[in-house]
Amino acid sequence: MPDQLHADQLHAAQPHAAPPADPGPRVAQPPSDPPPRIDLADPAFWELPAERRAAAFRRLRALPGPVHFTERPQGPLRGERGFHALVRHADVLAASRDPRVFRSAPGVTTPAPARWVRLLFGDSMVNLDDPRHAQLRRIVARSFTPRLLARAEADINATAARLVDRVIAERPADFVPAVAAQLPFQVICAMMGIPEQRRALILRQIDRASAHAGVHRSLGARIRLPGQGLRALGRMQLLVAELGRERRRRPAEDLISALVAADLDGRGLTGRELGAFFSLLLVAGVETTRNALAHGLHLLTVHPEQRALMLADPERHLDGAVDEILRHATPIIQFRRTLAADHQLGATRLARGEQVLLCYGSANRDEAVFPDPEAFDITRHPNPHLAFGGGGPHFCLGAHLARQEMKALYRELFARLPDIRATAAPEITPSSFDHRVRSLPFTFTPPERD
Ligand code: HEM
Repeated sequence: MPDQLHADQLHAAQPHAAPPADPGPRVAQPPSDPPPRIDLADPAFWELPAERRAAAFRRLRALPGPVHFTERPQGPLRGERGFHALVRHADVLAASRDPRVFRSAPGVTTPAPARWVRLLFGDSMVNLDDPRHAQLRRIVARSFTPRLLARAEADINATAARLVDRVIAERPADFVPAVAAQLPFQVICAMMGIPEQRRALILRQIDRASAHAGVHRSLGARIRLPGQGLRALGRMQLLVAELGRERRRRPAEDLISALVAADLDGRGLTGRELGAFFSLLLVAGVETTRNALAHGLHLLTVHPEQRALMLADPERHLDGAVDEILRHATPIIQFRRTLAADHQLGATRLARGEQVLLCYGSANRDEAVFPDPEAFDITRHPNPHLAFGGGGPHFCLGAHLARQEMKALYRELFARLPDIRATAAPEITPSSFDHRVRSLPFTFTPPERD
């Protein structure tokens, strides 16, 4: 096989790309969709129906090595870049666990944040490498003290119960804003010590800041990030800096106080570092958990036998259900890495400076690891999904918290509203970056006396 597989070779081999040598007699064929043209660098690919994208990834996984795709950014980002798509479980794992070669700087998201955005707002640790990354992560990890986490657990349960009270009282139509977005947001705000009256403003900024992640078709869409998103980030930054100053004066038992008091080369986090960390926690922790929660309600609706199994013995099956939802939904579709050195990955030679996409969604459907990968099976065991990353130094810091939130909410919802269900498929925002649910209509029979 060649050292590297390029998308052009892949397209040449696709049945609809080449005319048949001898069309033969015309026989009516049953209508069937041609296999999709696979180009992970083309925004149109990410707008294909989920089944067609899944079929494309199946094809990619069956190839002898990762395929290289070329990006052709327009406008101010002109030029050609590209990436090798790591679509198999083993390859995503290998790259995640070898951070000396597979670096997170200059950035893991697509498109990369502009340099001036990073300069102005500070880099968050997800885009940094060791030793700087390790230093920041240590501070944050140390701030997640057992006391803070125990309080968070009590807070998660109480927030889940309050949300269900509100759902029963107000009977909202859309699960996403009313429930799925609320729980992770309220939990993180409480952990950080953000006063209730400032939370609505922050939620609006998160929506704006994250509205344009992923691959975008037009130059206009790219330009909106530095506009709307930047203003939103800026407002959040100011608010956080102000809270940081308050907590330096009057420390409390919360994450902001721990972060401003942390010892980083003999000093605490600066306002800019604090802001970058805040944005990371809010965007990374709220969007992802919100999408997982919404996908979960839909999956448990369209798989009634799995739902019945879970409800028959929640203590036994809730952990399995949550992990299977995470595998099946894979809230973060991919992150990027940049090679710090030439590297041999299986039979493929990767060169220093090249980039790879860690395709978590595809790894989570890898038939070499997950028998019958399209099936939703809450008893799947083992379930070594990569929804929180492939291990290594950047493994999701909030994995435990996210699982706790999912379990608390489903426990409360299904105990009090046992027939709660989605009434339509989730409305998905097409994105190459996250598996974002815009809305999910739902219904339930209100309890007679709750
Ligand atoms: C279902 C929910 C979640 C999913 C699917 C998810 C997924 C991920 C993934 C894939 C990564 C990158 C891992 C890597 O590069 O190896 C990550 C990193 C991260 N996540 Fe999560 N996450 C979730 C919830 C949370 C929550 C609730 C928080 C915050 C409390 C959080 C905070 C972070 C942070 C801070 C990082 C960066 C870690 C680092 O760079 O060292 N995440 N997450």
